[in-house]
Amino acid sequence: MSLAHGLLAGLDEIAEVGRDAARGGYSRHLWQGADLELREWFTARATSLGLDVETDRNGNLWAWWGLPGTDAVVTGSHLDSVPGGGAYDGPLGVVSALDAVARLKTTGFVPTRPFAVLVFAEEEGSRFGVACLGSRLISGAIDADAARALTDRDGVTLAEASVRAGLDPARLGADPAALSRVGLFIELHVEQGRGLIDLGSPVAVASSILAHGRWRLSFSGQGNHAGATTMGARRDPMVAAARAIVAVQDAAVAQPGSRATVGRFEVIPGGTNVIASTVHAWLDARAETDAETRALVAEITARTAAEAAHNGCSATVTEESWAPRVAFDPALRERFALALGDVPRLSSGAGHDAGVLASRVPSAMLFVRNPTGISHAPEEFAEPGDCVAGVEALEQLLRNVL
Ligand code: GLV
Ligand code: MN
Ligand code: MN
Ligand code: MN
Repeated sequence: MSLAHGLLAGLDEIAEVGRDAARGGYSRHLWQGADLELREWFTARATSLGLDVETDRNGNLWAWWGLPGTDAVVTGSHLDSVPGGGAYDGPLGVVSALDAVARLKTTGFVPTRPFAVLVFAEEEGSRFGVACLGSRLISGAIDADAARALTDRDGVTLAEASVRAGLDPARLGADPAALSRVGLFIELHVEQGRGLIDLGSPVAVASSILAHGRWRLSFSGQGNHAGATTMGARRDPMVAAARAIVAVQDAAVAQPGSRATVGRFEVIPGGTNVIASTVHAWLDARAETDAETRALVAEITARTAAEAAHNGCSATVTEESWAPRVAFDPALRERFALALGDVPRLSSGAGHDAGVLASRVPSAMLFVRNPTGISHAPEEFAEPGDCVAGVEALEQLLRNVL
C-alpha cells in the first residue's frame, strides 16, 4: 500500500459516516451517532498504528506514540462538522496526522520527545453553540459552569450529554495536567477560502486568525393572528429581524475586511398563519483586529435596537462566544516555513483549536489548498495530490521537531 494511498484510504473509510441526505454533505455533531462512530474509527485506526488512545476529562481524544509525557509534540484537528459540512474540514488534519505517523514508522523513525495525535471535541460548536469547545475547556478559556449549562437544540445540557458520553460532568473544564503535556501543537487543515488558489501553492503556513465571535440577536414582539391583525396594528419581530439582518450586511460592507453573517434563525412559534412572538437570529462577526470586530458588533447592536423599535418590538444582543485575533508564534512560523522550502504564509478567516491553544503553547498550522474555495458546504474539496503535499509537509515538520 503506497503512503499516499494510506492517507486517502482514511478519508474513504469515513466517507459514509454522518452523510446528511437532507442538507447534502455531512452532519457530525458531538457525541451523537456519526461523531461516536468516528471516535470508534479513530480509536481503531490509531490502535492499529500502535498508538495508545485515551479520552481526557473534556472528551478530547489523545493517541500516544509511546508513553504520555511533558513537552510533547501534538498534532491533530477535529472530526465533528457544521450542519451539511464538507468532508475535509477537520478530518483531513486527523487523517494526515495518522498518515504522518504511519510514514514515520515505515522509515523506522523513533521520536525523541513524547508525541500524540489529538482530536478535539465540538470544534464547530454545532451542537452546543460554542466553537472550539474542547480546546476552550481544556485550556480554561471557557468557565466550566457556563460550559456545563450550554444547551443543545433538544434542551440537553453539555453536562447531561457528557454523562451519556461516559464523562464526569463535575470534571469538565480547565485541565492543566493534560494541557501541560503539550510542548508544541500543529494543526493541518483544509484551506477554507481562495488564498492558496491565488498563491498557486498546495500548502501554506498560517500567520494569523481573524478576531471573531458569535452573538444571539433576540427580537420580541406580539404574537397574533395573521388574518385578524391589520398591518398597522402589528408588532412583528420577523420584520424587525429581517431589517436588522440587512443592516448586518450593510454594517460589514461599510467596514472593509470585516465579515458578518446570520446563518441560523429561529421563529417562535413558527406557524404560517401566526405573527411570531419572538425571533432569534445568530450573528457570526469577524474582523482583522479585536477592536474592529467589537466596533462592528456595536454598530450592529445599535442598528438592531433601532429596527426593533421601528417595528414596535424590543431586542437584546447576547454574546455567546468570543475569540480574539491570533498571531501564530512568528519564530515557529518562520522556522516551519523555511523547513518546508519557503512556503507561503496565509491568514485564516476561520477559527481553529490551534488558535485557542496558541495563547498557551507554541502552535502552528498548515493549510492545504481547496480548489473550490468553498468550505462549510458540501463543495469543500482538496485534490489528492495536494493532500499528499500536506501530509509530506506535516511529516517534515514532525521530523524537524521530534
Ligand atoms: C470554525 O470553523 C469557524 O467557524 O471558524
Ligand atoms: Mn469548520
Ligand atoms: Mn475545522
Ligand atoms: Mn473551524
